[in-house]
Amino acid sequence: MSYVKIEGGNKLEGELFLQGSKNAVLPILAASILCRGKVMLHHCPDISDVRNLLYTLSFSGVKSTFKEGLLELDTTDAKPYRFGPELAGKTRGGVLLLGACWGRFHEAGMAYPGGCVIGARPIDLHCRVFRQLGAILTEESEGVMLRGCPAGGRVMLSYPSVGATENAVLAAVCATGTTVICGAAREPEITELCRFLNSAGGRIRGMGTSRIVIEGVNGLYGTEYTVSGDRIVAGTYLAAAAVTAGEVCLCGTGQVCLNGILECFRKMGNRVYREGDSVILRAPKRLRAVPGIVTAPYPAFPTDMQSQTVAMLAMAEGESCVTETVFESRFGVVPELQRMGADIKRIGRSVFIRGTEHLHGATVTATDLRSGAALVLAGLAAEGETCVAGYEYIARGYEDICGTLGRLGAMTVVAE
Ligand code: EPZ
Repeated sequence: MSYVKIEGGNKLEGELFLQGSKNAVLPILAASILCRGKVMLHHCPDISDVRNLLYTLSFSGVKSTFKEGLLELDTTDAKPYRFGPELAGKTRGGVLLLGACWGRFHEAGMAYPGGCVIGARPIDLHCRVFRQLGAILTEESEGVMLRGCPAGGRVMLSYPSVGATENAVLAAVCATGTTVICGAAREPEITELCRFLNSAGGRIRGMGTSRIVIEGVNGLYGTEYTVSGDRIVAGTYLAAAAVTAGEVCLCGTGQVCLNGILECFRKMGNRVYREGDSVILRAPKRLRAVPGIVTAPYPAFPTDMQSQTVAMLAMAEGESCVTETVFESRFGVVPELQRMGADIKRIGRSVFIRGTEHLHGATVTATDLRSGAALVLAGLAAEGETCVAGYEYIARGYEDICGTLGRLGAMTVVAE
């Protein structure tokens, strides 16, 4: 296992260009199966979740070349493939291959993706969506099998699941007839997927609202698309400046939706504003506590910024409370921050934080992607050296986090 070694105490200052969005590009990679012809994606982040999904796609005959942010996909020879457990569990985005493959081949099979440390991550809502679109769905011990032709209709989501909404869109875009998705997730990544599909000949409207209408088309063609910046990575690097009393200019954020994130950072005492295609954050000497932050589906405060925010508040002046309503066990960062001197108490789905002026360096362990990023943030501000084990988790979603932070003045290095 590799780890990130951080010497804390440096103020982070400077500017950086925001990487492409992981949670936008993963559904788009799945959607490429529906496009008969070449797909060119610009500003694609070079992260392990993307590499892993490309590897999984290769089993279905999808060819790809990826260099300096330009990803070219050729699905001409794509064919049905039953993805086993070793592939299904490689990256969460893999479950979206069910909707895309069923949409193209009228058959799809995948082992259950399984849970992870932040929650059980079942796919019952996905299966309900497929059945509502006419799938002959069989659930066996080794996974899910879809057969039959996707038929447009009404899809009712009892919870605005991001993945289940994306699978509904992927299955419906080439279905016979029109589909109306009620109770859809409204995350910007859903909008991005729909924009991509429309650029390839799809006929989707209402994306970004809870009611999406999809007129099925006979097929999609090749397209060229630029992936927008990653809103969670943006929040993470803004947080890096915030915890070190620094100042950062984040370029390439013009189209990035930072709802919920900027408001929270302002409550902590940061001056943060947009200027052209950039977001600029000037941090106070010490952050202020925020009494009540609650994560929930978009447009509420994003769960993917929860761990990073807990780390920020651990050093803020005053008492804060953060409640996690999306995943059932997403406080893995708490015991690790406590090892660095944080005063945090967990009661049920909330954590109560009493800010301490300084954390101290320690050897800590990332349990998932965002808790890993949060521990790096804590290490940037802590006194002394922090070693964050589990760099592999962080590399799933952050392109060269050490190089990026190093360009802002941080002393960070990846070590074996
Ligand atoms: C997407 O996961 C993101 N991943 C997650 O980002 C993000 O945290 C999440 O949406 C919420 O915004 C990608 O886009 C690849 P959900 P997804 O379906 O689609 C429950 C990150 O750090 N649920 O909206 O899996 C589920 O267990 C990752 O980048 C069911 O019960 O999220 C969870 O409690 C982490 N049954 C809640 O809904 C289902 O069939 C939200 O899940 C599906 C979901």
